[in-house]
Amino acid sequence: MNELEAAIRMDELITTINHHNYNYYTLSKPTISDSDFDFLLKELESLEKQFPHLSKPDSPTQKVGGSITKEFVQVKHKYPMMSLGNTYSEEELKEFDERVRKTIGDDVEYVVELKFDGLAISISYENGAIARAVTRGDGMMGDDVTNNVKTIKSIPQQLPAGDYPASFDIRGEIFMHRKTFEKLNNDYRAELEAKGFDEDEIKEKLYKNPRNFASGTLKMQDSREVAKRPLDCFLYFIYADQPVAQTHYDSLKKAADWGFQVSDHFKLCKSIDEVMDFIHFYDKERENLSYEIDGVVIKVNRYEQQQELGFTAKNPRWAISYKYKAQNALTQLEKITYQVGRTGAITPVANLTPVQLAGTTVKRASLYNADEIERLDLHEGDWVYVEKGGEIIPKVTGVELSKRLPDAVKYSYANTCPECSTTLVRKEGEVVHYCPNETGCAPQLIGRIEHFIGRKAMNIDSLGGETIAGLYQKGLIRNYADLYSLTADQLLGLEFETYNEKKDQWGKRSLQEKSVVNVLQGIEDSKKVPFEKVLFALGIRMVGETVAKKLAKHFRSMDKLMAASKEEIASIYEIGDKIAENVVRFFSETENILICNQLKQYGLKLEVEEEEGVTRTNLLEGKSFLVSGVFSMSRDELKNMIERNGGRNVGSISKSLNYLIAGDKMGPEKLKKATDLNIPIISEEEFMKMLDRD
Ligand code: IVH
Repeated sequence: MNELEAAIRMDELITTINHHNYNYYTLSKPTISDSDFDFLLKELESLEKQFPHLSKPDSPTQKVGGSITKEFVQVKHKYPMMSLGNTYSEEELKEFDERVRKTIGDDVEYVVELKFDGLAISISYENGAIARAVTRGDGMMGDDVTNNVKTIKSIPQQLPAGDYPASFDIRGEIFMHRKTFEKLNNDYRAELEAKGFDEDEIKEKLYKNPRNFASGTLKMQDSREVAKRPLDCFLYFIYADQPVAQTHYDSLKKAADWGFQVSDHFKLCKSIDEVMDFIHFYDKERENLSYEIDGVVIKVNRYEQQQELGFTAKNPRWAISYKYKAQNALTQLEKITYQVGRTGAITPVANLTPVQLAGTTVKRASLYNADEIERLDLHEGDWVYVEKGGEIIPKVTGVELSKRLPDAVKYSYANTCPECSTTLVRKEGEVVHYCPNETGCAPQLIGRIEHFIGRKAMNIDSLGGETIAGLYQKGLIRNYADLYSLTADQLLGLEFETYNEKKDQWGKRSLQEKSVVNVLQGIEDSKKVPFEKVLFALGIRMVGETVAKKLAKHFRSMDKLMAASKEEIASIYEIGDKIAENVVRFFSETENILICNQLKQYGLKLEVEEEEGVTRTNLLEGKSFLVSGVFSMSRDELKNMIERNGGRNVGSISKSLNYLIAGDKMGPEKLKKATDLNIPIISEEEFMKMLDRD
């Protein structure tokens, strides 16, 4: 890899890693497995080693991944909360042992503990009473979650008398037991099912694993809610100005004596081989624990030796964590089926002989696309390894070739749509196959209606995916305009089949009076949804929320948009040829024109509502403005005026800026930058003159 390639890849990695850190720590909703994440981080670390001059001081390799949540009071940690270096390889663990011995000699003992999969907490005690509990945050500062932590029964609020220091911090891991997680998630599932959400929506909303549930819970603002979701905690480290013992092992014993919950699963080891035995033992035994662990932590026992070893910028040199690889299982591939999404995109799914994996039965795994099937070189009847990462859907990671029969036939990708038999297409440069039958393929039609009722679109939340599928099944709806013709007579008592993916069985559901009233009311209310949302709801390819807003702002009515040429649409700022092409294509299809006309007749808002007394012009069309300083009106009023007359507000000065409108007290830096770039600087009066029509 040359320097330029490395710089590009490093930038890419930093963006991806930061994004995953945000999903994990702030949203508590990771989208990749821990091992995949660690893999990315290791790649970045290795590039930074190879090209040190390209590494950035704020790289995610240089800090703890978390960030602070805005809603809580932030507190500085008296002792920074560091994280541990980690490894997945026994080889590297031996190297850790060698490094330790090089510095402190062969007289070394290790304490091995379980690495609980939860979130770190630091609790301060003053005279035996809990004073404050703070999350790790960015390692230097964290969120004050004392009230939430006080709801955890295993954390003492007041210690009985003992030989603890007047003031100390104790660190530990907050987690949720698997059983609690399953129960709470099942309750939540039932609640969502009752509301009519379909399986995909439910999967999206549910917490992925006990760690995310614990983390989402601890970040709740209402401690009464936290108390309803039982959490637990193991404590594993004491910080005090004077050490409470000579060794880590003795301090764990002390913590237990004082009344803290310390895990029983730890061991004093005299050699790295004993550490390995512990690791191997718990790799199997972890299935039997009531909570999840993701590895073990190895710590040098004697404090004196810990001090001698010291720290790197991020981690102690006297400790390391060994992480278990994601659990996997071997099972047979029975067949490959294909799912069709709203846009016609085809997803291949591996149907497997049911197998137990990390506490659940796995029957299906995602295969993503044709390239993935090719990469795995799947043959009929293959035995495959499945792995469960951060995602709820497991994936196929490899094939056990020794079990392949000599005459096994290689899988070839489907040629036709499993739902409507139309020949599939794969566009140049894309990995995904599509079913092009947009107007006659059931999952695409149902998917489009589901998108239409979505929260960010028409927001008909009394209807869920399951009901939509049922109404389609019964022939009551074929497109989203049909929703507006539904009547109470048609709906009352309507019975349809539903598929419960979890139980893998079909059932029946019927619509009762209360839900019929809600459904019809929801549909009626949606007629008040503003034009930009209706436009988004139509489900035109590449027209997401932002593009829909831009189109609505520019054209102001469905009629004008329908009549617009590709060139006119593409001339709008930040709307490219591809989007324009999709819009024009959508409105060139007779069926879509018909549906839009029906929507108009049903009374949906197909125009932007004009505020009274506000005039709009295109006088500033294509011009960008930066507003800076103090004016006779508020800056927001001035910005609105720019937009109402077709102009565009930008946030910073660049070569492409057309005008800087300068008010009083504008910063000298902006003035200099604009002058340097030769950008016209105009006053409020001069701007107003631009709006004169004559
Ligand atoms: S000791 C300076 N012990 O793993 C040493 N950490 O990457 C502080 N963890 O932030 C950590 N179980 O959230 C330690 N028995 C254990 C642990 C443990 C889980 C977590 C903790 C820490 C992270 C290290």
